[in-house]
Amino acid sequence: MTNKIKKFYLKKTKNKKLVCLTAYSKNIAKILDKYCDLVLVGDSMANVLYGMKNTHRLSLKNIIEHGISVRLGIKKSLLVIDMPKNTYRNASEAKKNAKLIFKKTKCDAVKIESNNKNFSIIKKLVDSRIPVMGHIGYTPQFKSKFKIEGKNKSEEKKLIKEAKLIEKAGAFSIVLECVSPNVAKKITKIIKIPTIGIGSSSYCDGQILVTDDILGLSGFYPKFIKRYVNLNTIIEKAVKQYSKEIIKNLFPKKKNFLYGKRN
Ligand code: KIV
Repeated sequence: MTNKIKKFYLKKTKNKKLVCLTAYSKNIAKILDKYCDLVLVGDSMANVLYGMKNTHRLSLKNIIEHGISVRLGIKKSLLVIDMPKNTYRNASEAKKNAKLIFKKTKCDAVKIESNNKNFSIIKKLVDSRIPVMGHIGYTPQFKSKFKIEGKNKSEEKKLIKEAKLIEKAGAFSIVLECVSPNVAKKITKIIKIPTIGIGSSSYCDGQILVTDDILGLSGFYPKFIKRYVNLNTIIEKAVKQYSKEIIKNLFPKKKNFLYGKRN
């Protein structure tokens, strides 16, 4: 475990909440870095940025290119890169692709969605000194229909077992996506590694959301998201003003000219 990951992991033992957000580019990452413990280059970029209907066709090249950009904005927080669907179908594929992600982006860890079978892949990566973050509950790479996970006893049992096996495989943390509060609370208590919730209540050790959602850019605002600002409106106002000034020849002014006297 690297020192950076140890520091992240140890926050749970000190009862300190972990702050996590997604980023797809340098300028946003630079701002997040001041306040976040972890920045995730999430494959949610498939929907949010590329307008795809799901995350299934996002490529390794896509995630690496955004990872390189985000790296430029990150100094202190943990940089985690999502492994896209079909890039970790077996241990050798996972190792080859994770190594490429590490080499190109200089990230600190990769995240892998659980299909309740790929525990040995996590173990092989960790054994090869590749830090892994797990992801259970609603895992968009493997589940086509959205639903809250853990609402009955059998789902609860399955999720707890899955979390334990991911911890045993050596992951340093797990994302719990849309897991019922009761089960999120139990998992957080049972396992030693930090749980990072999204739509999974405040019982988790930390929280993650998609940055475009909290900034009001994505147009996706289900109940578990809090929109902290409406950037859509702010950007539109600025662009409208810009457009108006150009049409009326109010911009550029002489002071914006690169040569000549200022008036
Ligand atoms: O892809 C993503 O942004 C994620 C988070 C929602 C956890 O996996």
